[in-house]
Amino acid sequence: MEMAGSRENARESASTTCSQARPVEAARPGEVASPVESGHESLPAGVLGKTRDRLRANDATWLAYHLLHRATARAGRFFDARARARERAKDLPGVNTRDYNRRLWTDYDWSRSGEEWTPSAEWRQSLVDDVLVPALPQDADALEIGPGAGRWSGELQPRVRSLVLADISPAAIDLCRERFAACDNVSFAVNDGQHLPAVPRESVDFVWAFDVFLHIAPLDQRAYVSELARVMRPGAVGVIHHPGDGGSAEGWRSAMTGELFAELLHDNGLLPVRQFRSWGPGGRFELANPGDVITEFVKPRAM
Ligand SMILES: C[S@@+](CC[C@H](N)C(=O)[O-])C[C@H]1O[C@@H](n2cnc3c(N)ncnc32)[C@H](O)[C@@H]1O
Repeated sequence: MEMAGSRENARESASTTCSQARPVEAARPGEVASPVESGHESLPAGVLGKTRDRLRANDATWLAYHLLHRATARAGRFFDARARARERAKDLPGVNTRDYNRRLWTDYDWSRSGEEWTPSAEWRQSLVDDVLVPALPQDADALEIGPGAGRWSGELQPRVRSLVLADISPAAIDLCRERFAACDNVSFAVNDGQHLPAVPRESVDFVWAFDVFLHIAPLDQRAYVSELARVMRPGAVGVIHHPGDGGSAEGWRSAMTGELFAELLHDNGLLPVRQFRSWGPGGRFELANPGDVITEFVKPRAM
């Protein structure tokens, strides 16, 4: 299983080794070498030399903007990482409160049915053929969390015995009700963003959530995983797309990590099967955000 956490560790230790060994000249093109990036003996000459070159080629105001940009960007990354770590440690929702999500996705313009997040027809088809279908048990009772306007529900509905669509946004569920009005194997639930009261214990063979857990705070994901352990039948499979990197520095993405998600599964008696971010022939297709992963997991038969 490819674990995002171990990738983070690998990246961290790789960059530590590189930063100790990298001479000033080897700083990335277009960047001023920092004290950490450069060997301290050659630091003053390297930094001053590059700064002088840039000042000569530009002007003092440009240089001030450039240096301020670099310093504030670095400070921004630092403070965002602290905020995200605090969300995880103290069970804080950050910007991803349930009220915010309910409002955001109720006021959202759904006129493109979520296809605005589909990079290409080939990408979409491969996600269905190479990720969704291989994980889907035969004749399954399925649950989708956060269907939005039904971008993936339309793929699930003809392939399953029954499908429950649960979304925090009443507007999303209204759209799904309209879209699947003629399908007697689909049922609908507006939920509180944490729990699945409409779904009975051990009634589900397959769980799907794509482009949803990016918006859900770790504390709510914890509640969902505990609910999944309740509603999944032994042998059931789940496929959930979520941040693997703690939310990166983009502000709005959930602070979830690949490691923490796997830990939540274990805590609830569920087993991660694999975490991945590319699929299809030769791993040709990948998640739009480099920090995201998909976790596939099962509820073991003897639990
Ligand atoms: C970016 S849209 C994706 C919709 C759909 N999955 C797709 O890929 O087209 C996010 C969806 O997740 C829903 N959502 C956000 N937070 C949720 C939560 N805590 N529980 C259930 N649904 C949630 C939103 O209402 C919205 O429908």
